[in-house]
Amino acid sequence: MTTMLASDLPLPGIGRGKVRDIYAVGDDRVLLVTTDRISAFDVVMAETIPMKGAVLTQMSAFWFNELEGVVPHHMISADADEIIGAVPALKNHRADIRGRAMLCRRTTVFPIECVIRGYLSGSAWKEYAATATLAREKLPTGLVESAKLEPAIFSPATKAETGHDENITIARMREVVGDEVAYTLENMTRAIYTLGETLARDQGIIIADTKFEFGRDRDGRIILIDEVMTPDSSRFWAVDAYKPGQPQPSFDKQPLRDHLDAERRAGRWNGDAPPPPLPASVVDATSKRYLEAFRRITGADLKM
Ligand SMILES: Nc1ncnc2c1ncn2[C@@H]1O[C@H](COP(=O)(O)OP(=O)(O)O)[C@@H](O)[C@H]1O
Ligand SMILES: [Mg+2]
Repeated sequence: MTTMLASDLPLPGIGRGKVRDIYAVGDDRVLLVTTDRISAFDVVMAETIPMKGAVLTQMSAFWFNELEGVVPHHMISADADEIIGAVPALKNHRADIRGRAMLCRRTTVFPIECVIRGYLSGSAWKEYAATATLAREKLPTGLVESAKLEPAIFSPATKAETGHDENITIARMREVVGDEVAYTLENMTRAIYTLGETLARDQGIIIADTKFEFGRDRDGRIILIDEVMTPDSSRFWAVDAYKPGQPQPSFDKQPLRDHLDAERRAGRWNGDAPPPPLPASVVDATSKRYLEAFRRITGADLKM
């Protein structure tokens, strides 16, 4: 299995995100290719993390299968042979797509990140600590950092073209997508998170918060798109290390974050691009963490 910084496939490219390369397949499908790029503190590293792209794609595929009958979704196939069967132009590129590509229904994407938080962490904790609110709505007082939130809180954000996503109120979300769509997206978000959080907890992983995207397909149906409940779109914590009242170590990126923090403290990095080079030990530890997250969530080793 070769590691990949960027893909170059004989299909029309329609976008390149921090982690994924997106290609059009005809006018009604997209091929999402998840590279092995990794970002931390909003900076994309120069190195790749072997197996990371395949972990993200196959974990999303696992969740789409679990969600069958719960919500409609965009996945057509994440199997290289099936994808080549459907898209013959890829037949000489099996190694580039194996494990990491997903053929999907193309949608018009709603410009909203549907964030749901089951635990109080990150930017939500920062806001709460300052004003006892989340997305400007009052929360109970006396909550500690990383506390469980019951019920989970739906806190949408706008999809920013550049820079940071901005948290918005549900009232603002209604203005952007309309009352009916806002209601549907929140309900779908809650249903998906409830299923995921429960399953993951039984496997020893807390999905503290996560983010979903939705789009409208050609038939006008609202469907779940993008990646689903991966370490890149979620905060994963180990159940057995959970201690409310403090920040929790990240299940997947902690070796990388610890290294970058040490580089910063040593004055070797100012926090902006370009990032410092990563030692092989950090790359290796991070790759192992992603594979372990996959094994825990799905209950099986990643088959490649
Ligand atoms: N089914 C789909 N139809 C159209 N666009 C999609 C679909 N699934 C995902 N996308 C888009 O593909 C992109 C995925 O690339 P990614 O690297 O995750 O970008 P980002 O850096 O914005 O997170 C996102 O912009 C997402 O909205
Ligand atoms: Mg993304």
